[in-house]
Amino acid sequence: MSTPLLTATGISHSFDTDLFSNVDFSLLPSQSAVIVGRSGSGKSTLLHIFSTFIEPNSGMVDLFSKDLYSQKDEAIEALRRYEIGIIFQSHYLFKGMSALENVEVATMLSGTKIEDALLEKLEIKTVMDQKIGELSGGQQQRVSVARVLSKKPRIIFADEPTGNLDKETAELVMDVLLDYIKETGAGLLLVTHDEAMAARCDKRYKLEDKVLKEVL
Ligand SMILES: Nc1ncnc2c1ncn2[C@@H]1O[C@H](COP(=O)(O)OP(=O)(O)OP(=O)(O)O)[C@@H](O)[C@H]1O
Ligand SMILES: [Mg+2]
Repeated sequence: MSTPLLTATGISHSFDTDLFSNVDFSLLPSQSAVIVGRSGSGKSTLLHIFSTFIEPNSGMVDLFSKDLYSQKDEAIEALRRYEIGIIFQSHYLFKGMSALENVEVATMLSGTKIEDALLEKLEIKTVMDQKIGELSGGQQQRVSVARVLSKKPRIIFADEPTGNLDKETAELVMDVLLDYIKETGAGLLLVTHDEAMAARCDKRYKLEDKVLKEVL
């Protein structure tokens, strides 16, 4: 059995009210997992906890066999730059720049190359010279997927990456994400409201009544 990329134990967090408590979760290389649950149940918060952005009130996050929140700021910065890829619920592309320049920002920081094959698979190769503001919502979403995968992360956190997409394009993005983890041994943690996307993951969890349960 391979070593998990991520292991979270006994995670609890609250903002104004308790969101969840005692969450246990782990993700293996090449594994895909999905978290579903009602709006406001805390899925994005949990993803932020697993991906360096929010230290939980209690519990431990072990990322790549190190206690995440006991590491220095520089180490966490390096994790964000080189090791983890995050596709946020609202994508943060630079509007005044072209699609290509947006992807280049990521590859310059991580020292990787943009692969034509990836842009072709995502069906955005022909729009890469256009400004982000001139692209459709779904094209922008696919540029943000290209940007994240071009970094060659060891783990991908994707918060509703297919939210703005028609069924066919959503399938295509999911194909690209699943191919990437099979080829590279990276892990994928997805949050989605889309049943068809959820069904394609190796493991499925539901955040409900403040607990994370595995569902079949
Ligand atoms: N930084 C914050 N400060 C205070 N409250 C917050 C913060 N972030 C999230 N919350 C609250 O925590 C709850 C869970 O939010 P979260 O974004 O994790 O839900 P979600 O399950 O991702 O919902 P959705 O499906 O709508 O994206 C919400 O009630 C939200 O208002
Ligand atoms: Mg959310």
